[in-house]
Order: sequence, then C-alpha cells, then structure tokens
Amino acid sequence: MSYFKFQQWFLEKKHKLHTRLVRRSFGAMGRDCIVQATMRCTNPGDIFLGDRVFIGADAWIDCFKEYPFSGQQFTPRLEIGADTMIGYHSHIMVVGHMKIGRHVLIADRVYISDNLHGYEDVTKPMLAQPLVHRPVEIQDEVWLGENVCVLPGVTIGRHSVIGSNSVVTKDVPPHSVAAGVPARVLRTYDPRTAQWIRA
Ligand SMILES: CC(C)(COP(=O)(O)OP(=O)(O)OC[C@H]1O[C@@H](n2cnc3c(N)ncnc32)[C@H](O)[C@@H]1OP(=O)(O)O)[C@@H](O)C(=O)NCCC(=O)NCCS
Repeated sequence: MSYFKFQQWFLEKKHKLHTRLVRRSFGAMGRDCIVQATMRCTNPGDIFLGDRVFIGADAWIDCFKEYPFSGQQFTPRLEIGADTMIGYHSHIMVVGHMKIGRHVLIADRVYISDNLHGYEDVTKPMLAQPLVHRPVEIQDEVWLGENVCVLPGVTIGRHSVIGSNSVVTKDVPPHSVAAGVPARVLRTYDPRTAQWIRA
C-alpha cells in the first residue's frame, strides 16, 4: 500500500471515530454524517444536522449563548440540511436561528455570521460593545466558493452560486451567479428560455 493510500485509510478511520465520539453532543445528527477530527464548536447541542452532512477538519462553529463582554444572552440554533458539505477551515458564527439548506456546497475557508460587533459607541472598545444580530439564511443547493464571506443580514436564494473570494453584503436572489467585493449578480436563470443570462 502506498503512503497516501495508507494516509487516506487512516484518516477515514480517525474521522469516523471522531464522528461517533461527538454524535451525542449535537442537538441532532442524522445518518451517515462525517464530522472530521479537529472540527471545533461551542454549544454543539444547538446544532442540528440532517443525514449525510459533512463537516471538514478545522471547521469552527460557534453558537453563542452569551457574550461575556456585554452580558447579552442568546438562544442560538443552527440547522444544516441533509447532504450539505462544509469545507475545511470554515467559520460559522450564530446567535439567532440560522438555516443552511439541503445539498449546500460550502467550500474551504468560508465565513458565515449572523452577528457583528457594535461599533457606534466611540467611548468603548469594540469587544465591549453589544453584538448586533441580523438573520442569515442559505437556501437549498447553494454553492459558496472558496474564501467567501457571508455577512449578517443576508439570504442566499435557492440554487445560487457565489464566486470564490466574494463578500456577500446583500440578499442574492434564487438561481443567480454572484461574485466580487461586494458580490453582485452576474447571471440569472431564465426559466422561459431555460438559459442563464447576463444580469
Ligand atoms: C462564480 C463562478 C462559478 C463563475 O463561473 P463561470 O460561470 O464559468 O463564469 P465566468 O468565468 O464566465 O465569469 C463571468 C464573469 O464573472 C467574473 N467572475 C467570475 N468569478 C469571479 C469571482 N470569483 N470574483 C469576481 N469576478 C468573478 C469573470 O471575471 C467574468 O467577468 P466578465 O464577464 O467581466 O469577463 C466561478 O468563477 C467561481 O468563482 N467558482 C468557485 C470556485 C471554487 O471556489 N471552488 C471551490 C471548490 S467547491
């Protein structure tokens, strides 16, 4: 057996074992999920996974119940639908109710957050200011490319694509391709002609 075949075999065993060890910590975990070793999370009891969800190594999911610097309390809930994949090193921060749909493809190093640090009070440092919650939703069959940032308050509509390195600051309608900083819609699907047309 070559070294890389052995490595793959070894890592598969390791990630399966890790998934078994953490299964009961989650609010729910469907069948045949993989949660790779070195995934980090705060309050996994508030994370609900459908069947066959994959969470890559070094992904970091925070469900904040309290923010100690401002004393705020939250009731976070993250739902991740069946057959969704979350790439390596991705970072998801949740204080409200966030839904990531089914068959969503999230590439590596993606950032998704439904909250931001308040900054309005110029007499207080950022960390000491209250977190501001703005709901986020990622609908079914969305594809987020590498290094995408989805900022608070954004809904990404069903079967849309976000190009790599994009920063999504506003809602993206269903069946669209958007990219850039800030992300703008480049193409949309026209059901009458069954074609993707330039926006
Ligand atoms: C968004 C994407 C799917 C579009 O692919 P496409 O339909 O083949 O689009 P094109 O390459 O024809 O590009 C269309 C236009 O969008 C621009 N564009 C494409 N991707 C872009 C990006 N990530 N950021 C900014 N602009 C982008 C192109 O420059 C082009 O602009 P122009 O019309 O002015 O020349 C692709 O560019 C992309 O980013 N894929 C993500 C790859 C990835 O991260 N994979 C991870 C593995 S899961």
